[in-house]
Amino acid sequence: MKQRGEKITALTAYDYPTGRLLDESGVDIILVGDSVGMVVLGYQDTTNVTLGEMLHHTRAVARGVKQALLVADMPIHTYETPGQAMETATKLVDAGAQAVKLEGGVSHIAQIRAITEAGIPFMAHIGMLPQSVREQGGYRIKGRTQLEAEALLADARAVEQAGAFSVVLEIVLAEVAKQITNAIGIPTIGIGSGEYCDGQILVTHDLIGLFPWFTPKFVSPEARVAEEIRRAARAFIERIKRSGQA
Ligand code: KIV
Repeated sequence: MKQRGEKITALTAYDYPTGRLLDESGVDIILVGDSVGMVVLGYQDTTNVTLGEMLHHTRAVARGVKQALLVADMPIHTYETPGQAMETATKLVDAGAQAVKLEGGVSHIAQIRAITEAGIPFMAHIGMLPQSVREQGGYRIKGRTQLEAEALLADARAVEQAGAFSVVLEIVLAEVAKQITNAIGIPTIGIGSGEYCDGQILVTHDLIGLFPWFTPKFVSPEARVAEEIRRAARAFIERIKRSGQA
């Protein structure tokens, strides 16, 4: 698709109906993201998500996905060594994922190699790394300085060389995302990184307005599902109070 100049679409899913609906809609990639921690499980960030939780949600989504490429996130502290990374990736594949993703570039090349050499398709994730949000002091744009831009380019080249089939660029300056996209052969999938990436990914809850308490600045929601849920619940409450009939 990158070679043909065809844009790649990717969305997150955490349960069977959403996975099935997105799949039926024709999205190219479905990610069981560890963003499940924030938009489904109510954690403050993704740093509390466990492998058990990821396996549970991956199994549910896998039951609903037939066409799209199903990628699962490796949660924090489950890829500290190459051996642990391979073990975690294998468990996610056994749960139904066709590929796995972890956060890091040059810093995690040994882990990435262990995964790709085991024959497990691997998607990289560089730029803003939500699992490191506490150390990074918030969700800040990456690539603003020359040094940061060069480090991102080095990360992208390194993950490609280690066998990644694609790389997510999260909140990277658009011009830097463009440079990276032109410099590597594998597709870049952007989130908050401008229009020049080979594809785009969003957290589905942001796209459909299902997490109304916070929407990232770079998202233009296509629906207001939270409002519909509130409307339906209020209508139900009103009907029962009035007539007693469900
Ligand atoms: O967990 C997630 O949803 C992600 C995307 C934001 C890329 O990693």
